[in-house]
Amino acid sequence: MTAKKSPETLRSYRWLGPDNLRAFGHRSRLQQMGYDRADWVGKPVIGILNTWSDINACHGHLRARAEDVKRGVWEAGGFPIELPAMSLAEPFVKPSTMLYRNFLAMECEEILRSHPIDGAVLMGGCDKTTPGLIMGAISMGLPAIYVPAGPMLRGNWRGATLGSGSDAWKYWDEKRAGRIGEREWNEIEGGIARSFGTCMVMGTAATMMAIAEALGLALPGASSIPAVDANHPRMCAAAGRRIVDMVWEDLTPEKILNPAAFDNAIRVHMALGGSTNAIIHVIAMARRAGIALDMARFDEISRTVPVIANITPSGKYLMEDFFYAGGLRALMGEMAELLDLSCLTVTGRPLGDALAGATVYLPEVIRPLSAPLYAEGATAVLTGNLAPRGCVMKPAAADKRFLKHRGKAIAFENYEHMAREVERDDLDVTPDHVLVLKNAGPKGGPGMPEWGQLPIPKKLLKSGVRDMVRISDARMSGTSYGACILHVAPESFVGGPLALVQTGDEIEIDVAARRIHLHVGDDELARRRAAWKSPPPRYARGYGAMYSQHIGQADEGCDFDFLEGTAPIPEPEIH
Ligand code: FES
Repeated sequence: MTAKKSPETLRSYRWLGPDNLRAFGHRSRLQQMGYDRADWVGKPVIGILNTWSDINACHGHLRARAEDVKRGVWEAGGFPIELPAMSLAEPFVKPSTMLYRNFLAMECEEILRSHPIDGAVLMGGCDKTTPGLIMGAISMGLPAIYVPAGPMLRGNWRGATLGSGSDAWKYWDEKRAGRIGEREWNEIEGGIARSFGTCMVMGTAATMMAIAEALGLALPGASSIPAVDANHPRMCAAAGRRIVDMVWEDLTPEKILNPAAFDNAIRVHMALGGSTNAIIHVIAMARRAGIALDMARFDEISRTVPVIANITPSGKYLMEDFFYAGGLRALMGEMAELLDLSCLTVTGRPLGDALAGATVYLPEVIRPLSAPLYAEGATAVLTGNLAPRGCVMKPAAADKRFLKHRGKAIAFENYEHMAREVERDDLDVTPDHVLVLKNAGPKGGPGMPEWGQLPIPKKLLKSGVRDMVRISDARMSGTSYGACILHVAPESFVGGPLALVQTGDEIEIDVAARRIHLHVGDDELARRRAAWKSPPPRYARGYGAMYSQHIGQADEGCDFDFLEGTAPIPEPEIH
């Protein structure tokens, strides 16, 4: 341990150390809680930001795990304080957890700033909690370690494996097509999520937990441990021990995060076949760290990194299998030649040290670079007159015939319009049509909901169609699949070209050329633009009004404009 700080220079000393009436008040309140001076004097105060809640099954175990973190903090000579933070349970929070990611980021930053805290343990995992906590911690700048909730166990139905989300979509379509009945559907409901933990496919949660580890912000190997495995509480205690030393070493996020660390994270994202949502979050995290990052960088890296994780929805296995195969350390070890191994991690050592001895135990789950699942990475960024600032697609999860396609649009003005139309038996639609959903972006959704995997029209489902081209300014769940083109920027709600698409227009997609084109003449587009009317704001007051005024577009990471960057914020006065 390199002791750079002395107890008197701890941030918490300002609250707890001085001989004045205010500090007396702080100390007496700690004693009121049953703590003795010996519990905290001269020790780093560790804030444990816990996103546990009764309604978040992904974090159901974090209430108990916080005690393991505390055990580690006590063991290492720190003073742990657990503070609740917004739980953001993906399945329950409406209209979209994305509406509140920045809310959590603000909450995290301000909780840390306003309390006598020297270092932070960030406990999250369900989709938006990882970027929310990390964005806040980056902006606050205290030493911080991320503790991933970990994935739930595999789902099970009549002896078959079920994957979160992915199999829900699949069997919902089977039910809509009349191939399974109520009884089967109810059994699937009871079997698809059978332990605490995050979704166990390579969805947004698993992708973001892995990205946090690849950035160097979690202990090596932490992100792959299933939530209910005994390794998980051991990892939590280890994180508690480590954060205490990180405070003494003054190992802050800015010393860990640099452009090479973000490149590492993007390479890992591609090798995992990770969620498209991660693009937005990684850009937002980088901007918080003062690092310019745009979607073009994802596309550049995507072309050079193959998908080697054989995990649903791009592949076949689940996160539990990934753990048994060696987990993220094994995957990163396999692709070590593509990574910058000199990057620092929360261990205080280079990434290369963390990967020493990492072994792939199940090569069918983590493929060698020489025999990847897909030769190119997970994400393609397309641009063109329909998406001047870009849009994204996950080619590995799409029917290959749609990677180069030209078809007539069926345009839906909003989600309700789309939901009605796709159920019509007389909808004029073929498998070659391109479904277009408008008003589902950051401002229009609002909160950019995960509507991007538009349902296949019922009429086509019955005839066995399972994929077609779908375009929107929405996001898509990381558990989803199909030829879905997402995050169209600028969004239709603010007048992006998507707003001008009409049913019958021809749209061309060429993934190899990274191109998306609306075949409508400039004069006609100008006429439509002149006739387009800006919709009224979604919110007149409250958080939603602030959100609407300050939210950025998808290509910018959807952060609030006033939260980006690294401008200093004064420490609170203690009077
Ligand atoms: Fe929480 Fe999927 S619902 S990770």
